[in-house]
Amino acid sequence: MVATGRLLFGAGFVTTTNLIGNGMVAFFRHPGEMARFWANPSGPGGSQPSTRSSATRASCRPTGGGVFEPLELGGETIGAGDVVIPLVGGANRDPERFPDPERFDVGRKGEMPLSFGWGIHHCLGAPLARLEAQTVFARLVERFARIEPAARIPRFSTTFLRGVPSLPVRVTPR
Ligand code: HEM
Repeated sequence: MVATGRLLFGAGFVTTTNLIGNGMVAFFRHPGEMARFWANPSGPGGSQPSTRSSATRASCRPTGGGVFEPLELGGETIGAGDVVIPLVGGANRDPERFPDPERFDVGRKGEMPLSFGWGIHHCLGAPLARLEAQTVFARLVERFARIEPAARIPRFSTTFLRGVPSLPVRVTPR
């Protein structure tokens, strides 16, 4: 019970915190997309891509793992037993899967990104994380006509996580 509680807290708290912080930073960097979302938070940008990802599935996990069967990937042969650490951020920017992948588009449709993993270890908390993010951003739109950074945005970065330790903002109430 304790181990499960720790896993859920670890996997479920800092991830969503950073989804919300990084989401806000993405809005600040793309004012046009922010305005588009603020004008219509339940529109295309408020929904999720409809199809599940059909990206190439190596028999390993986003956090790294051994490959069960030999496979060809990007012109490379990966042998059974080799350890692979996929970079999810790179996979999510694969232009063969995601047209114009560097563009932040709140109305993006199409394939599901690999952010929540896939297969039997697909993120247990993905629906909760999406609900949390949708709720937060919908409430922010409801309460504030405008949100802008109030200071230089600090960043932190580890091997697996990137985010903002704090996000000072200036708000204009509706
Ligand atoms: C933005 C938020 C989140 C992201 C990006 C995320 C990402 C991921 C990824 C990529 C995996 C697969 C890891 C692997 O295959 O090695 C995973 C698994 C998992 N996630 Fe999340 N997660 C998020 C939120 C949550 C939340 C809110 C919870 C719980 C309340 C949670 C619980 C778990 C658990 C228990 C697993 C392990 C599932 C298994 O191995 O069967 N996650 N998550």
